[in-house]
Amino acid sequence: MLIVHTIADLRRALEHACVRTFVPTMGNLHEGHLSLLRQAKPLGDVAVASIFVNRLQFLPHEDFDSYPRTWERDCELLRQVGCDVLFAPTEKDLYPEPQGYKVHPPAELADILEGAFRPGFFVGVSTVVHKLFNIVQPQVAVFGKKDYQQLMVIRRMVQQMALPIDIVGGETCRAEDGLALSSRNGYLSPQERAEAVQLSMALKALAAAARAGNAAGQLDAAALEAVAMETLRARGWQPDYMTLRKQHDLSPVSGVCHEPLVVLGAAKLGKTRLIDNLEV
Ligand code: PAF
Repeated sequence: MLIVHTIADLRRALEHACVRTFVPTMGNLHEGHLSLLRQAKPLGDVAVASIFVNRLQFLPHEDFDSYPRTWERDCELLRQVGCDVLFAPTEKDLYPEPQGYKVHPPAELADILEGAFRPGFFVGVSTVVHKLFNIVQPQVAVFGKKDYQQLMVIRRMVQQMALPIDIVGGETCRAEDGLALSSRNGYLSPQERAEAVQLSMALKALAAAARAGNAAGQLDAAALEAVAMETLRARGWQPDYMTLRKQHDLSPVSGVCHEPLVVLGAAKLGKTRLIDNLEV
């Protein structure tokens, strides 16, 4: 695996690469990331991963400084999974001057759910992903469905900006008990880790209730969402949202709805904020 740190070196390394597949990450890799790489590998000739903890997508009070950085282990895992090129720029390489030009995704998609609780998050994500796309120039890029709204924001960006990139969604990897794998799981104490699965269980219950409501011809999404929020609150969580949405644009559901749906949730357990989702 070739490791490069600068844009110029990456461009040189990829000069003769035909079909480039790309998995951008912020490092602290786990099985979820590795499965995205395994998915990317057969879709092209050269599999590129990036590791860059992107300051632009963190709010001042968030965990940019403490975000886990596990360089040696990440390199080893990427080697094992057959990554060909790892792009790991420093902040100076990627943002040599303050990034004044930014990508602002539309409010109806980016200011809801995660964007409502983390203002500016999707501007930071879209800006860095657009920039990484320009640098790597992949034909295919793979993003996890764990970050469901992020995947949608990126898909729309690629579509509206006519970027010649096929965006592929990778299934969420889960621990044995059902907890979605995430770098932030590492912040959980052993007791919190045991409790953490309740987020996906509450989402499962919400999805089942939505299916049952639709089947019975009577669906009150707001009432079901309130039950899911209360279930978590009663167990000591601080939920930001537990919600039933339409898959195609994440808009709310009112009444019976036979379009493909998804339930999404975000909640804090102690100091750790976890997100998860489930297609209904
Ligand atoms: O999902 C992530 O890890 C990040 O948001 C991404 C896509 C690498 C952009 O920094």
